[in-house]
Amino acid sequence: MFFSPFVHRDGAAIFRAVCQGCHMPDAKGATGAGNYPALVANAKLASAAYPAITVLKGRHGMPAFADYFDDAQVAEIVNYVRTHFDNHYADALTADDVKKLR
Ligand code: HEC
Repeated sequence: MFFSPFVHRDGAAIFRAVCQGCHMPDAKGATGAGNYPALVANAKLASAAYPAITVLKGRHGMPAFADYFDDAQVAEIVNYVRTHFDNHYADALTADDVKKLR
């Protein structure tokens, strides 16, 4: 059994605890010391696999979170960003989907 070191289980809380440090509280991203892309109205979120793989394996300057989130947490945070910040993708990712992407 895998226990995540991150206590937060719902998408909004995970976003605040982990993602907003780089992507900013409004998910508009930032440029400066690094280049943190905006997640607002982001067409790359149309396929749930893209943000899920990004969170699991990292992407260039973004660290991988596969060892820190369990499957349900990855599904939560992906579903959260895909249904907030002007993204309206209704097809929800499940923990089982995440397991297959690991
Ligand atoms: C340490 C800083 C950092 C943290 C924390 C972080 N990210 Fe990122 N994220 C980045 C960077 C930098 C990129 C751009 C990677 C690249 O160059 O393609 C990125 C890219 C992304 C992308 C792809 C965006 C695109 O347009 O291609 C998604 C989706 C994403 N992050 C979601 C998240 C989520 C969800 C979390 C919280 C679990 C998170 N990030 C936490 C730095 C971070």
